[in-house]
Amino acid sequence: MKNAGENVLIVDKVERKPLHVQIYEQLKKQILSGKLLPQTKLPSIRELSIELSVSRNTVEYAYQQLYTEGYIYSKPKSGYFVAVLDSDFVAHPANVTSLAIEQVAEGGVTYQYDFHPASLAPDSFPSKIWRSLYIDCLKEQSIQFNVYSNRQGEHSLRREIQLYLERSRGVFCDPAQIVIGSGLQDSLTLIAQLLRDEHTMLAVEEPGYWIPRSVFSNNGFELRTVSVHENGLAVEALKHTGSTVVYVTPSHQFPLGYVMPAENRMNLINWSKMVGGVIIEDDYDSELRYHGKPIPALQGLHPGGNIIYIGTFSKVLSPTLRINYMVLPHRLLRKYNQLFSDYACTVPLLDQRTLARFMEQGYWERHLRKMRNIYKKRYEAIIQAVDRHFGSSAQIVGQGAGLHIVLTLRDTRFTENEIVRRAQEKGIRLLSLADAYLQHRAGYPQFMMGFGGMQPADIERGVAQLYRYCL
Ligand SMILES: Cc1ncc(COP(=O)(O)O)c(C=O)c1O
Repeated sequence: MKNAGENVLIVDKVERKPLHVQIYEQLKKQILSGKLLPQTKLPSIRELSIELSVSRNTVEYAYQQLYTEGYIYSKPKSGYFVAVLDSDFVAHPANVTSLAIEQVAEGGVTYQYDFHPASLAPDSFPSKIWRSLYIDCLKEQSIQFNVYSNRQGEHSLRREIQLYLERSRGVFCDPAQIVIGSGLQDSLTLIAQLLRDEHTMLAVEEPGYWIPRSVFSNNGFELRTVSVHENGLAVEALKHTGSTVVYVTPSHQFPLGYVMPAENRMNLINWSKMVGGVIIEDDYDSELRYHGKPIPALQGLHPGGNIIYIGTFSKVLSPTLRINYMVLPHRLLRKYNQLFSDYACTVPLLDQRTLARFMEQGYWERHLRKMRNIYKKRYEAIIQAVDRHFGSSAQIVGQGAGLHIVLTLRDTRFTENEIVRRAQEKGIRLLSLADAYLQHRAGYPQFMMGFGGMQPADIERGVAQLYRYCL
């Protein structure tokens, strides 16, 4: 397609991405970059379909999506035109400092090579199946649109989660102990409110995930940091904090990736028995283990104990759904029922029912296998690329699972912040490990490098580029 500004659209029929998505993405990019100016008339559906040798439906889908998102508007009998967008959304061509960085609708920045640890494979969501299951649920006679659904979440979903957890994570519970929520922050907010009568401190892993820190401190808890070594949380150090609540990621320590061995798990459980301590076990990505079997959860070692187990659908299915779950020990369940009797479940009923069917009909297990394969290839690509380009100048910590690795650079002349900035200027996003520390940290520069959102070939190119700006 050529029009004002000689903008060209190219569709690649070999690529796996659907053609209408390719057209939609390119047009959106041209609109946001200011290459397609407001009020510019787009070619008619017929013209563009002939020009690109695609069906009219393909172009129509692309235009529909742009129309729905407000990038274009239509005039009766005249066709589609580029909308006037809020100036915050549109990058002025003269202001674009790097070709690799482009403005996106949310006003943020997308990177050519995005190594953010939370980046996931785009286009992997099973939309077709999800849509069909969602419609089936919508047609169900038993859906009542005039009442609030169960506070802890749909029974059918809790039942599926219980079966899945028992089968693959060794978690033992009853569906009555499961509370569906809309993400870690939602579950932790409830937990903080459940615990704050009897506890005043939260011990957290150092380095560790930042969400529990902010949720608990926002709820009046003091934070105590506990160091992490190759066996995970240092339980001896935990004992000296005086805290009676601890947040841990034993199956894949965030961010270092260490797995807590059985002996240290028993030490932690013994600590909990000794001080009446509560363990919050965040099992966020243990499905994604690329070698050997996933490690059973801590909860399964002491199902009657004071362990709150938390899992999520964000990593394997989608963070956009905002669906997670926690398993409460019986003692806290009673308190939960007293405290939150007026609360409603935060996840929409139809999403819960759709997910329950997705699990019941075997799609979840299938999707899990598919995603594990995709991410395994990406994981291998990053390990090989780091080895090929950095060689002995870099060390990788915590291997074999999850969606990111931690890279340590021993021979660089730059600081961690300088490297993050230099990479960013070239369109590469990495996160400094300092973000995972509460206290100041000395030592070699370290980075979290996510590999979930990029194809193996891009990972290879991204690591090669990064090497040039790091040493
Ligand atoms: C350590 C950790 N826990 C939990 C989660 C999942 O959070 P949520 O269920 O809110 O998406 C993440 C997501 O990145 C994480 O890194």
